[in-house]
Amino acid sequence: MKRIAVLTSGGDSPGMNAAIRAVLRAGIYNDLEVYGIKDGYTGLIEGNLFKMDLSSVADIIHRGGTILKSSRSEEFRTEEGQKKAVSVLRVFGIEGLVVIGGDGSFRGANDLAKKGISVIGVPGTIDNDLGYTDYTIGFDTVINTVVEAISRIRDTTESHGRASIIEVMGRKCGDIALYAGLAGGADSIIVPEKDIDIDCICRKLLQSKNRGKKHSIIVFAEGKGDITPYELGARITENTGIETRVTILGHLQRGGIPTAADRILASKLGAEAVHLLVKGESSRMLGVKGKEIIDMDIDEGLSIKKELDEDILDLANELSI
Ligand code: F6P
Repeated sequence: MKRIAVLTSGGDSPGMNAAIRAVLRAGIYNDLEVYGIKDGYTGLIEGNLFKMDLSSVADIIHRGGTILKSSRSEEFRTEEGQKKAVSVLRVFGIEGLVVIGGDGSFRGANDLAKKGISVIGVPGTIDNDLGYTDYTIGFDTVINTVVEAISRIRDTTESHGRASIIEVMGRKCGDIALYAGLAGGADSIIVPEKDIDIDCICRKLLQSKNRGKKHSIIVFAEGKGDITPYELGARITENTGIETRVTILGHLQRGGIPTAADRILASKLGAEAVHLLVKGESSRMLGVKGKEIIDMDIDEGLSIKKELDEDILDLANELSI
């Protein structure tokens, strides 16, 4: 293998830059030429590639976002789009591709692998919604960001004796809500994987109020679907008389300086992606189980359902009496 390329795809996540840097540096260390593909699969289809050198990744390990930019390409989902992508890779003489992204990006990577391109997936998404890996790049940063936001909201919530409902990202996965809720000392955590029990939420609120604690923090995952945070707030006020406020944290969760843990994970996985390509591997996705870096066939990895960690939820419930 002489020439490889790297792209970032889907929602950006803090730590993607550290992963790009690791791919470039490990590539050069292993005597490879490394190309960057701009704008994810959109840029691949359009042939938006450039040769990278060490200066391309200077001073990026600490930066959020992705220097390669990202996209959610509709065209790449089509047979036509994928054929264009393959021919661009052939024209540039790219023999191996590293795709940094989430499950949609990996499905695209798999399609390319089935068309004869050697592809390795590196999990970069704040959602932590991939069942085969304990963590994805960006998850540690996002939960720290959310915990900081909870602390700020707690100050004003406490001053006014209100209940604050804080909506966090995660699509259909409740991990951001769960882990940030536990770390932020939330009174209730609402996740898509579990039914909501409004009576229980209200009971807890009234019990704390009777003990003299007048404020409350409720972390609400965006993927809940069957109730909005505003509807929940209205129901709480109706049942308890406690005033509520809703904060949608939104895209501020995706930005910011990646934590050391995310940079370390990104460095390990980015470099390992290159090592796998050098060994002649293809159609593998990288992840972490405990302290071990693992790789798995993309089809197999994508078929593993993401489960909510019930122990963490039980613990959060036990500690939020
Ligand atoms: O997948 C990452 C994510 O931030 C989700 O948590 C969120 O639902 C979605 O992307 C938002 O996507 P966009 O930035 O395209 O609005």
